[in-house]
Amino acid sequence: MGDQDSRAGTSYSTKAISLYCDEVHAPHGRAMQSAFDAPQDNAMPEIMVGQSEARFLSLLVQLTGAEKIVEVGTLAGYSAISMAQHLSDHGHLWSIENEPKHAEVARQHIAQAGLSERITVICADGLDGLAQIVQHGPFDMVFLDADKERYDQYQIWAEDHLRVGGVLLADNAYYFGHLLDETDDAAAVRRMHERTSLSFQSVCIPTPDGLMMGMKTRKD
Ligand code: DHB
Ligand code: MG
Repeated sequence: MGDQDSRAGTSYSTKAISLYCDEVHAPHGRAMQSAFDAPQDNAMPEIMVGQSEARFLSLLVQLTGAEKIVEVGTLAGYSAISMAQHLSDHGHLWSIENEPKHAEVARQHIAQAGLSERITVICADGLDGLAQIVQHGPFDMVFLDADKERYDQYQIWAEDHLRVGGVLLADNAYYFGHLLDETDDAAAVRRMHERTSLSFQSVCIPTPDGLMMGMKTRKD
């Protein structure tokens, strides 16, 4: 974001440039490649985070020393494996997935990655799953990547259950280009952004999909 064109929304990233950067900085190990391929191999939607976003999440776990992580939206476990790879022996990641088949495929890939003790996949509706894990909180990191029209409710949960200094992340924060639409769903995603800005130090990182990130600064 450094000149008039890029400030106006032009992206200098091309498919070739992003592939190059993915491969230089974030090459997949075997477990990550297998989880990345899993949606295609199992007739699931290929809607996991990108290779560089997965590396970013993994770096953030290492930088912050996060030990208790919550993910809403597991899919095949790609982002969960990326984040949990660097958890300490005391760390744990709870990932909530509403679709039983996705949860099963994720558990298989998590087992292949040797991370079954570090990651619990909870097969439940997002809010029900979150209600099931509150006793493990407060949490160090919450990553939202599920039904966008409930991002506002997930944000409230995260605000309540993150420790001060804890990190909230949300993929698809541009809502597929519809963030500013006058619809109830877009308004829910905007409420997530706006509430986050009040009790977190926050930013929307301009990844292709928008990645909102905030550090909780207030208790109430
Ligand atoms: C969809 C969901 C996602 O989380 C994503 O990153 C891309 C697409 C979807 O539901 O279509
Ligand atoms: Mg997403």
